[in-house]
Amino acid sequence: MRPSLIADLTAAMGKAFAAEGLDPALGRVQVSDRPDLAQFQSNGALAAAKAAKANPRALAEKLAAHLKTDPRFAKVEIAGPGFLNLDLTDDALAAALATPDALLAPDAGGARGKVLIDFGGPNVAKAMHVGHLRSSILGDALQRHFRFAGYAATSDVHLGDWGKPMGLLITEIAARQPDLPYFDAAFAGPYPAQSPVSMDDLEILYPAAAAAAKADPARDEAARIATAELQQGRPGYRALWKHFVDVSIAGIKREFASLGVVFDLWKGEADVDPLIGPMLDDLKARGIAELDDGALIVRVAEPDDKKETPPLILVKRDGGVLYETTDVATIVDRVRTFAPQQILYVVDQRQHEHFEKVFRASRKAGYAGETALEHIGFGTINGADGKPFKTRAGGVLKLYDLIEMAKAEAGKRLVEQGIGADYPQAERDEIARQVGLAAIKFADLSNYRLTNYIFDLERFTRFEGKTGPYLQYAAVRVKSLLRKAADEGQTPGPIAIHAAEERGLALALLRFPDALEETLRTRAPNVMCEYAFRLAQAFSSFYAAHHILSEADPALRASRLGLAALTLRALETSLGLLGIEVPERM
Ligand code: ARG
Repeated sequence: MRPSLIADLTAAMGKAFAAEGLDPALGRVQVSDRPDLAQFQSNGALAAAKAAKANPRALAEKLAAHLKTDPRFAKVEIAGPGFLNLDLTDDALAAALATPDALLAPDAGGARGKVLIDFGGPNVAKAMHVGHLRSSILGDALQRHFRFAGYAATSDVHLGDWGKPMGLLITEIAARQPDLPYFDAAFAGPYPAQSPVSMDDLEILYPAAAAAAKADPARDEAARIATAELQQGRPGYRALWKHFVDVSIAGIKREFASLGVVFDLWKGEADVDPLIGPMLDDLKARGIAELDDGALIVRVAEPDDKKETPPLILVKRDGGVLYETTDVATIVDRVRTFAPQQILYVVDQRQHEHFEKVFRASRKAGYAGETALEHIGFGTINGADGKPFKTRAGGVLKLYDLIEMAKAEAGKRLVEQGIGADYPQAERDEIARQVGLAAIKFADLSNYRLTNYIFDLERFTRFEGKTGPYLQYAAVRVKSLLRKAADEGQTPGPIAIHAAEERGLALALLRFPDALEETLRTRAPNVMCEYAFRLAQAFSSFYAAHHILSEADPALRASRLGLAALTLRALETSLGLLGIEVPERM
């Protein structure tokens, strides 16, 4: 793991505690709550004194005496009832910045183990909407963090391709084009290679089918039966279904590409179909699954459940399998194929109970083995009315349209700000794309994942405040500063720290390892967003207070350029972890 300043200081403090015969775990050092008084603080002397029935200030004095022998500290001070306030020397800060790769380069090699991340989760024949947006943005940020920190991460889109929507579509197409060979049970094949429907057709057919089934119980029943027949292998239905899936995947891939999100695996619910039969036999044979009123279920309630957990249904009375069934079988497949240490499911918090049941059933059956299963839930994206976001017409907003809206809004902003007025049109469009995506990604990620937030493009695309465009602009400003320096033949040199703003910037830079680990621990990229924002602010204070290019002292100028170059690298790295690109110029 990359060296963390806080971890180093905590280790030094722990030694001082141990030397006094105290529990070193109490020597935790943190960034000071009062940066005007000190850079770091440790409050452990209070707890230690209480445990040892000693005077906290006297104990703090003893601890301080140990720390004062460490030349890295410029100040070791006792404050209040026994807090320890610490400052590092400027040399110690500079030394910590002297190895930028140790601070900011990715850990390659997957030495920290295997993690499988299930996110995106689009459904066949349905356009992706804002709910899938949050899963995609969050899941992608997490896969980037895990990989960067040295995990072998595998992402799987887990396409929804095996449930009742498939039966609904089959019956809708059967109603419209009954002469197609897919519906003729006597047809011996081969079925046509060309799909009878396009993605645009599917987007019309699916809502029509859903409406028809809602209005007419006979249609609903037909769809239910078609779903069960599809799952049981009726050849015509499988052939038709394969067309929906292929056509949908092509459309979905385009949308993910425009969002800049990449998956390793394009598996779906249906991929585990061959595993389901043997799995059901196994569960029945071992008495884990039982028959209940014609359905096959697994009881997963636990004695201390606060509210009743219903059983997991593996097979319905009609023989159809469910979302829960495919999710259990997918665990069997993933554990067998990858044996990951953890599987993370980045899915709407409203599916929490679903995952709880799936995880319990899988553990009960012994399918999870050593693999930890974890639902990474998230809240909803709401409209101005506080309800899940809808278009003005009341429909769900398609992801594609949303990205187009964000690009258009970003384009407007650029004009307003006079950015790129003299750039070629193609470059202006590219900047608008990058800014539009940064706006939606940062707005999403900077909210803690379980918090709902209001979708407001006007606010997300602003160049002031805690926004993606503000951070891109901050990084681009550093880029142009460095470009100008290079044009003047000036190069970044070794960093030395002299002034308050340099110290502030150094401390902000050095928090990167902690922001990375904290993001991973909480599975919450808002931590990294906060890091990037604070870093940009620290740079802006530094830049406002000090000359860089016009500094007369060459060593000082080179040092400040060195700080600028390191800031740019840290900003680009943290934004990269959030899936945000930085334009060359703005
Ligand atoms: N397709 C599902 C939906 O749209 C999400 C799938 C999430 N992943 C999983 N393994 N269940 O709600």
